[in-house]
Amino acid sequence: MATKQQKLDKIKQQILDNKICPELAEQATQLVFGDGNPDADLVFIGEAPGKNEDIQGKPFVGAAGKFLNEMLEMIGLKREDIYITNIVKYRPPANRDPLPDEKAAFLPYLESQLDAIQPKLTITLGRHSLNCFLPDLSISQVHGQPKRYKGRVYLPLFHPAAALYNGGMRQTLIDDFAAIPAILQKLT
Ligand code: URA
Repeated sequence: MATKQQKLDKIKQQILDNKICPELAEQATQLVFGDGNPDADLVFIGEAPGKNEDIQGKPFVGAAGKFLNEMLEMIGLKREDIYITNIVKYRPPANRDPLPDEKAAFLPYLESQLDAIQPKLTITLGRHSLNCFLPDLSISQVHGQPKRYKGRVYLPLFHPAAALYNGGMRQTLIDDFAAIPAILQKLT
C-alpha cells in the first residue's frame, strides 16, 4: 500500500511528465506543488503561487501566508499540522488571475491530491478555489458555511491576500477562521 506521501509524489511527477500548462511552466521558476502534512485533517487551497512562492517552491510563504500562519496560531495549529496547495501550480505572469483553461488543466491533479490525503475538511481560499469545486456558489454569500458535496466537506473562506488590507473582510475572515475547530469537531 502506497503511503499518502508516496501518492502525492506520484501526482507531482505526473504534472511534470504530462507537461501541464507548458507556457506557465516556461515562465515560472518551478512547480509549487503543495506543502505540509499529508495526514492532515485540514487541506487549504489557494489560487496560484505569487512571486515569493515561485522563488521558494512552497505555497503561501509571502504576506498572505504570514497572515494565514497568524490565523492558524489563533486556533492552535501550525503549518506542519495542515496541508496547503493551490489550484494552479505555476506562478501566472505578473500575478494575473489564473485563466479558466489553466484552472481546468490542474483540477484533476488537485482532485487526486485530495483523494490521496482524504482530509476531513477542505478549506477553499477565495472565489477561484471555491468555484473550482462549487461553481454556482458566491463567496460573499457562503463564506464560513461548511458545504457537503460529493463525499467531501468544503469550508469557503475569503482569500487572505484579499482580506489583508480590507478591514471588514479581514475581521470576517478571522471570525470564520475561529469557527474551524468547532466545525471540525462536528465532523469527527
Ligand atoms: N496566494 C495564493 O493563492 N497562493 C499562494 O501560494 C500565495 C498567495
